[in-house]
Amino acid sequence: MPEPTLYIRGGQQLSGYAQVSGAKNSALALMAGALLSPEPCRLHNVPRLVDIQRMGEILAGMGVKVALHGNILDLDPSHLTSCHAPYELVSQLRASFFAIGPLLVRRGVARIPLPGGCAIGARPVDLHVRGLQKLGATVHIDGGIVNARASKLTGARIYLDYPSVGATETLMMAATGAQGETIIENAAQEPEVADLANFCRAMGAKIRGAGTNTIEIVGTPRLHGTEYTVIPDRIEAGTLLVAAAATRSTITIGPVIPEHLRAAIAKLQEMGLNIREVGVNKLEISPGESRRAVDVETLPYPGFPTDMQAQVMVLAAIAEGDSAIAETVFENRMNHVPELNRMGADIRIKKGVALVRGVSALSGAPVASTDLRAAAALVIAGLAAQGVTEVKNLQHLDRGYEDLEGKLRGLGAQLQRSTEGCPFAGAAAESRRAV
Ligand code: UD1
Repeated sequence: MPEPTLYIRGGQQLSGYAQVSGAKNSALALMAGALLSPEPCRLHNVPRLVDIQRMGEILAGMGVKVALHGNILDLDPSHLTSCHAPYELVSQLRASFFAIGPLLVRRGVARIPLPGGCAIGARPVDLHVRGLQKLGATVHIDGGIVNARASKLTGARIYLDYPSVGATETLMMAATGAQGETIIENAAQEPEVADLANFCRAMGAKIRGAGTNTIEIVGTPRLHGTEYTVIPDRIEAGTLLVAAAATRSTITIGPVIPEHLRAAIAKLQEMGLNIREVGVNKLEISPGESRRAVDVETLPYPGFPTDMQAQVMVLAAIAEGDSAIAETVFENRMNHVPELNRMGADIRIKKGVALVRGVSALSGAPVASTDLRAAAALVIAGLAAQGVTEVKNLQHLDRGYEDLEGKLRGLGAQLQRSTEGCPFAGAAAESRRAV
């Protein structure tokens, strides 16, 4: 089967309401967390995504019964048959490494391959490993596989050199099964960490302070099954807001937890967009008089999220003036820049900072996505551009956005996947005119 291309006929204004799905990064962590108890768990509001499916396959390989009906995910980990995850799957999904903590708690042993590098940076797991060692696990890396063992885990005070989301989640989960108290300092404060803590609490864990930089966990001998609803995806919500901003549209999105979007909302307002809460957990965005340039630095939460950097860069590319966008979380997360430049953007990278000179318009072009958020950025650029944009490598988009195309079409965008050429009649002539 030839790979499909996403064709986007840009320049259409969006309007209406778009539904925000459950948070991918929360759901993945919760799936790992479900291993902590031998009793079944039911998760609601789970987005239907390739990453979720892959995580399900990894858990199924460990003996977990996994069943997804709509957005409800049932996990029954009562009979774990393996504490090993295959490299082919882990290499495609870093979050699967987070299962190491729960496996140590349940079985005292875990064998998980190093997730390896990826398009956005090296992404080591040294903080996970050092933290597990502090909890009393023996961890050694052999042939690219992290082998962890612990006849018992003991609570400890752990200071993270960097507030890594994954390391905080791994260690928080491991600490729920450790004897005594664990304190994680300089912990990641992301809402997904707090969501995982709430899920673990619903299973009987004793956790305080998740969502702040100090988390205290008191180990509990046995957790129980539970039913839990995943929080809304703040990155998907932010992506939809930027799509509206880039097309000078007024749309409403929900459900959202506005607090989780504080940094993104502040930046969009600084650029001149109007954003207000309308009703419970809904946000309306509308265009202001102008779109101004803005400086952005990605940071751990509550700073501006790295997962929104590529999308906001599209907006900066068509704003009035010069913006500087600095990526501090991942060293190699600017792969979208050459693609945006192919569409007429004027962006240079200097010492990890994208210097964006706003242009009056982008024009449709064939482009290829390189990672999940870069793919979202290219879709937004296509919506804003004159003419037709062709986005390739859609597997990245499918990893992390539930039916983004359907949602955008519902707002009036013209975009369609095809393996048989551009589905829009007269589009070629239109693109030639735009260029
Ligand atoms: C999670 C999110 C990802 C988001 C990122 C930062 C999931 C499934 N993914 O990824 O979407 O972009 O948080 O908000 O939740 N690091 C180390 N050593 C470690 C661990 C991390 O040096 O042991 C470094 C990483 O290389 C990176 C930085 O810390 O430079 C942040 O990584 P981390 O917060 O761990 O991100 P993930 O949990 O992988």
